[in-house]
Amino acid sequence: MHKAPQLVQKAKAVNSDLVDSFGREHTYLRISLIEKCNLRCTYCMPAEGIQLSPKNDIMTADEVIAIASEFVRMGVTKIRLTGGEPLLRKDAADIIKRLSAMPVELAITTNGVLLDRYFELFQEVGLNHINISLDTLQEDRFKALTRRNDFLKVKENIFQCFDWGIQPRINVVLLKGQNEDEIVDFVRLTKNYPLTVRFIEFMPFDGNQWNSDKLVSLSEVLQKVSVEFGRENLHRIKDAAHDTSKNYKIEGFKGQFSVISTVTNPFCDSCNRIRLTANGKIKNCLFSESESDLLSAFRSGKKIGPEVQKALEAKKFKRGGMETLEEFSNPSRNQHNRSMILIGG
Ligand code: 5AD
Ligand code: SF4
Repeated sequence: MHKAPQLVQKAKAVNSDLVDSFGREHTYLRISLIEKCNLRCTYCMPAEGIQLSPKNDIMTADEVIAIASEFVRMGVTKIRLTGGEPLLRKDAADIIKRLSAMPVELAITTNGVLLDRYFELFQEVGLNHINISLDTLQEDRFKALTRRNDFLKVKENIFQCFDWGIQPRINVVLLKGQNEDEIVDFVRLTKNYPLTVRFIEFMPFDGNQWNSDKLVSLSEVLQKVSVEFGRENLHRIKDAAHDTSKNYKIEGFKGQFSVISTVTNPFCDSCNRIRLTANGKIKNCLFSESESDLLSAFRSGKKIGPEVQKALEAKKFKRGGMETLEEFSNPSRNQHNRSMILIGG
């Protein structure tokens, strides 16, 4: 049993339009801008490809801005842009400029391939929360994992971040037998560079052939790091509110690392995230099977506030209702979702 009833009590004290039935206030909106990507990460996009939404079903820039403003009016204080690859969108710069004028912390998750074209804009609008996905430090592995040749470009762009005063976070999805032998190499990067490496446990999504044998867990990461750098040099850093990660630092290193343990140690009880897909559907959880069609409501002139509230009321307590590891690992439960590329992380 979870602690839901206690949390419901707390809900009454929170004054917001964005509270769910467990008292969690959803102040963090993640907007996917596009379904397409210029990489083909094996764990994100099914080998057979994905069915893209018709162009007309994708939110226009004006729609993104209008819907985002309504969320901000309701209490959202942080917006992260995701994809597919958000910087592939032709009007990404326009959307970023307009969102940056809102009273929110603006962030982006990108694969880094096109970053160099955007540093100037990011500096102009003060966008410095940048997560870059990079699962390997080896060029040949990058090619195998992403089915593309952009390793050197991504690496160069990561290092360019420092010249622009950005301290990037590097997202590394760990896959057993594919890159877990690079954990210590990634941590070693944090010695001289003020970056955060975030190891992400591999999660099941539609068509990504997940199984628990491919998982590299939080405890395995800590074990490897302790052996390499010494248990006494590994320090836990206090979590920030709503943090999805457990954060660590090696004594004397400039950067830090974290582990996002959605599978082995989920962090749903403090979840503050709500997602909007590129085709305007609300996902109240990364793992929710059901979605609500906010864009159609918006286009037909309906007020979107009540639609958002309805979606939040339906939000389950943990991982879209897959509470236990057994449920979460069961393909008949975990394959009713979209592919990751259509959610945006
Ligand atoms: N499991 C864990 N993380 C994933 N990502 C994409 N697919 C998965 C998965 N199956 C990551 C990407 C990116 C972030 C948005 O989500 O690597 O960094
Ligand atoms: Fe593209 Fe990111 Fe998916 Fe890789 S994980 S295919 S970079 S959206």
